[in-house]
Amino acid sequence: MTFAELKEKKDLTIVAMESSCDETACAVLRNGEILSSVISSQIAIHKEYGGVVPEIASRNHVINIEPVVQEALDKAGIRAADADCFAVTYGAGLLGALLVGVSYMKGLSFALEKPLIKVNHIRGHIAANYLADPSLTPPYIGLIVSGGHTAVVRVDDYTSFTYLGGTMDDAVGEAFDKVARVLSLPYPGGPEIERAAKGGKRTVYIPAPKTASPYDFSFSGIKTSVINYVHTAAQRGEEVVKADVACSFQSAVAEMLVKAAVTAAKQFGLKDIALAGGVGANGEIRRQLTEACEKRGLKAHFPTKETCTDNAAMIAMEAYLQVKYGDGSALAEDTLDAKASIPLV
Ligand code: KG4
Ligand code: ZN
Repeated sequence: MTFAELKEKKDLTIVAMESSCDETACAVLRNGEILSSVISSQIAIHKEYGGVVPEIASRNHVINIEPVVQEALDKAGIRAADADCFAVTYGAGLLGALLVGVSYMKGLSFALEKPLIKVNHIRGHIAANYLADPSLTPPYIGLIVSGGHTAVVRVDDYTSFTYLGGTMDDAVGEAFDKVARVLSLPYPGGPEIERAAKGGKRTVYIPAPKTASPYDFSFSGIKTSVINYVHTAAQRGEEVVKADVACSFQSAVAEMLVKAAVTAAKQFGLKDIALAGGVGANGEIRRQLTEACEKRGLKAHFPTKETCTDNAAMIAMEAYLQVKYGDGSALAEDTLDAKASIPLV
């Protein structure tokens, strides 16, 4: 099927794969509606090491990929041959992990003679918003908060974006994971910090780093100030109240993110802000964004918590948008390779 035929196809069925980090995921989407979404998480395996071990992740994708695809097809009640096209995350992410998904989907697409759509993982995170709220329409501001990326973008239409700013050093998810380690909390740190912060008070001063642009962030200094606080307290023999440190860190980070997104909405005269990425599962960030938007007559949008962290339904949705609104550049060429790093949007 040509790209033009795909575009016109009624009841477009897409089978998508995601394997950029430690989740092996497959989803089936028909006309933008999820028929099935299966995620096999390796968190329990990597927890032992305090973070994702790339080679172990790749090996587990090799083991999991076949049963995960089969389960997604079974749950959707289709065979692979019923798909109109396939989709796969080709970057950014762990190279070995991406290669497993890319090779598998290239094989499937070649064997069944169906087109393959290549998907940018971060665009997938943004697309998760349309799964939760199909009425969301560009232009709007996207606030990307994941384990590898942190950025503010203007979503100009379904397939074009303008980068406004982002982190100068660590991604926000990395900061959550590192601060969790300082507090002796297990991997992944984000949900652990959120749990630890419940009942905590904002007693620890976390300075907001100065950046040249209102859309830029710096999280490594924040991580260092938490480390210094914990070490100084230990030297003085003072008790470190984990709940207070977690609450102070989480609230301060949420404030910085929300401020940047709201400033962007104001500057560009846009009414909608959509959160995207694993850290977007965080309740305090959602609460602060909702409150800030309500105060200013803006509207906050969120993916469901399940589609904030890595999944294939968002990859299928992004592929669907590329087919419906794109120019064909998302069609994977025969030479498609996995890429550890690609432009954010
Ligand atoms: O988007 P994601 O699933 O993977 C990447 O594309 O990087 O994001 C993973 C990150 C991890 O750093 C994890 O700690 C963080 O998302 N995370 C959270 C929460 N759930 C996951 N951070 C804060 N609060 C959460 N509830
Ligand atoms: Zn992700």
